[in-house]
Amino acid sequence: MTLETLKLIAYSWLALAAVVFVAMFFVTAPFGRHTSEKWGVLVNNKLAWVLMEFPSFSIMSYFLFFGTNSFCSYVWILFSLWIFHYMNRTFIYPLRIKSTPKKMPLVIVLNAILFNLINAGLNGYYLAELAPAEDYSTDWFYAPHFIIGAILFVSGMAINWKADAILINLRKPGETGYKIPKGFLFDYVSSPNLFGEIIEWTGFALMAWNLPALTFAVWTFANLVPRAKNHHDWYLSKFADYPKERKAVFPFIF
Ligand SMILES: NC(=O)c1ccc[n+]([C@@H]2O[C@H](COP(=O)([O-])OP(=O)(O)OC[C@H]3O[C@@H](n4cnc5c(N)ncnc54)[C@H](OP(=O)(O)O)[C@@H]3O)[C@@H](O)[C@H]2O)c1
Repeated sequence: MTLETLKLIAYSWLALAAVVFVAMFFVTAPFGRHTSEKWGVLVNNKLAWVLMEFPSFSIMSYFLFFGTNSFCSYVWILFSLWIFHYMNRTFIYPLRIKSTPKKMPLVIVLNAILFNLINAGLNGYYLAELAPAEDYSTDWFYAPHFIIGAILFVSGMAINWKADAILINLRKPGETGYKIPKGFLFDYVSSPNLFGEIIEWTGFALMAWNLPALTFAVWTFANLVPRAKNHHDWYLSKFADYPKERKAVFPFIF
């Protein structure tokens, strides 16, 4: 694939993100608390997470080990961060979530697989085959966008992990219901885990400073801001005592 072809795919993919962003305020993605049998065949929740996230983990691992440029410049740092994130999401997160009878529609699993194939495919192929080696020389470590991006990536990941851990631990063994989360960034927003994930991939895009990484950050925003709003509205509808000052995803803003 040439750089021009990759750019064409990436710009088309970005345009679709804008459409999905708007649509997701009207159609709630039916997984987790919003799951529904109306969406057809259902899959075990833990298995669904592994199936959905494995393509991203495996594609980036493939390009790291078999890509032309992977070990010739510092792009391996970007590969390692991506793979580290998806190692958690693919193998550790599904083991940690509490088993409930809840299942996930197969259509969501298939959508997520496609989402991950395209995002990991664009990012992996660009870094491994198309990125000019001089863009990722030692100078790159001292560029402000790299330093700010690295701080955001690590902070976002830490927020995401801590918030996910708090949510997962709300249920005692055998419990399947929902409670109002409190403490940490939950005092400011309903979904600090989604806030952390947005910060993390914005940081990655700044570090990587390329079109595919920007595309993935935009898609993460487009997916997770409406999802956080759906979660927030759901909390308000289920709990009469839900804190009214809490925002959906961005503290004090939205
Ligand atoms: N990069 C992307 O585009 C993308 C897209 C989607 C998700 N993600 C990431 O995947 C992870 C999961 O996303 P999600 O939207 O499914 O998160 P979520 O709805 O906040 O759920 C996270 C876990 O905590 C449980 N939980 C949530 N709120 C709870 C409460 N009030 N009481 C008891 N248990 C509660 C959920 O159980 P239930 O499953 O039973 O509700 C689930 O196991 C997040 O870290 C997110 O950032 C990333």
